[in-house]
Amino acid sequence: MSRSGSQVPTPRAGVYPERVPDMRGWLRRHPWQADGLLALLLAALSSRQWQGAYAHDVAAVSVLLAATVVPRRRYPVAMFAVAAAIGAAQVAIGVQPASGAVALPGTGLQLSAILQPTVADLAILVLLYTLAAHRPRPVSIPGLVICLLGSVAAVIRWAPAHTARPGAQLFAAVAGLGGAALTAWVLGDSVAYRYRRAYYASLEERAARLEAERDAQARIAQAAERARELQERRARVVDESAARLRRIERDLHDGAQVRLAALAMTLGEVKESLDTAAAPGNRADDGTRTRMLVTAAHRNAKETLAELRDLARGIHPPVLDRGLGSALAALAETSQVPVGLAVSVAERPSPAIEAIVYFCAAELLANVAKHSGASRAMVSAAAQDGRIVMTVTDDGSGGATPAPGGGLAGLLERVQTVDGRLGIDSPPGGPTVITIELPGHA
Ligand SMILES: Nc1ncnc2c1ncn2[C@@H]1O[C@H](COP(=O)(O)OP(=O)(O)O)[C@@H](O)[C@H]1O
Ligand SMILES: [Mg+2]
Repeated sequence: MSRSGSQVPTPRAGVYPERVPDMRGWLRRHPWQADGLLALLLAALSSRQWQGAYAHDVAAVSVLLAATVVPRRRYPVAMFAVAAAIGAAQVAIGVQPASGAVALPGTGLQLSAILQPTVADLAILVLLYTLAAHRPRPVSIPGLVICLLGSVAAVIRWAPAHTARPGAQLFAAVAGLGGAALTAWVLGDSVAYRYRRAYYASLEERAARLEAERDAQARIAQAAERARELQERRARVVDESAARLRRIERDLHDGAQVRLAALAMTLGEVKESLDTAAAPGNRADDGTRTRMLVTAAHRNAKETLAELRDLARGIHPPVLDRGLGSALAALAETSQVPVGLAVSVAERPSPAIEAIVYFCAAELLANVAKHSGASRAMVSAAAQDGRIVMTVTDDGSGGATPAPGGGLAGLLERVQTVDGRLGIDSPPGGPTVITIELPGHA
């Protein structure tokens, strides 16, 4: 009979993870228990030295020493001081020439027998390590020095009783004790160094984060400020165009409309006069009056035309139809002060921008003629990184400043409506350089 059907499937390797007790992790998560275990270990290791008449007292000293490692993380300095004091007492009294026993006066207690160094003295090294790991160097280095001096003192005290030992063994004893102390300190210090580095790295990271946050906030504030500015400008533009519309309406009403009415009246009179002249039997009119009326009507029509042309020019200068170069050249030609011209604008800006450049140039050249006393002026316009930069320079007296309601203030507002900039450099005595920077398209 086949057994294959009853076979229990064996798990493939790796399917069931091996369960290794995570001892290190547990010790790290339970520092008090870990240090308790360490203390027990030290006490247990030293128990072999609890011998002779004073075994109990030696045991008590060992247990006391071992116990100092339990609260070592919380009180590194105090615990080190306790352990070092016990160690110092052992060096001073316990480690000595065999002949010089010391007893506690009045009790007969053999202190030199009780204060013998044991394995529990390793607690001093553990505490030196803790001191180096948890406290700054100005605290831990004195601890190291105390341990090194203690090592030397111990060997000096111990050597005369063991004169049989050769020098090399003495040296080895000093080197062993001192080396152990130094090793404990270096290990602790390297841990502290890693902590400090991690701490500084986290500080740096935090500083960088704060800086980034501050930058972001500054950008938000800037954007808000900009939005407010743009809103104000839009409101100004709306007001301005409403005012301009009212002005055009008034100009049409008071100017062209009145003139056209007068023209119509004159033409009516001309008609009447012609009718009268054509009437049979009328020989009085020789046509003088008719000619006079027609002359008046003609003049009126021409003046109305000129007025309408002026009005239209204020809205959109017709000269701009042929481009910024021609428009600026026309302005330069009509200027009373000789004007040099340099225009290099390959791609035409939008009509609104061209109009602003034109009106600015007109106002600035008018200022040159009116205020500067210059012998010559220069107008240059160029496209730079998609923006139009126009400069009007004169060699006059300088001192140009925008005054409320003045032409320069008007230019500033006009320029700001399209997010442009106006720069005035006009020191007393001149020269005057006024720069206008506008986006290519608005
Ligand atoms: N090119 C210039 N050279 C010297 N002074 C100037 C020039 N342009 C303007 N100014 C001075 O700046 C003042 C303000 O100019 P503006 O705002 O255009 O007002 P205005 O209506 O008087 O022309 C002028 O009154 C004048 O004193
Ligand atoms: Mg002016």
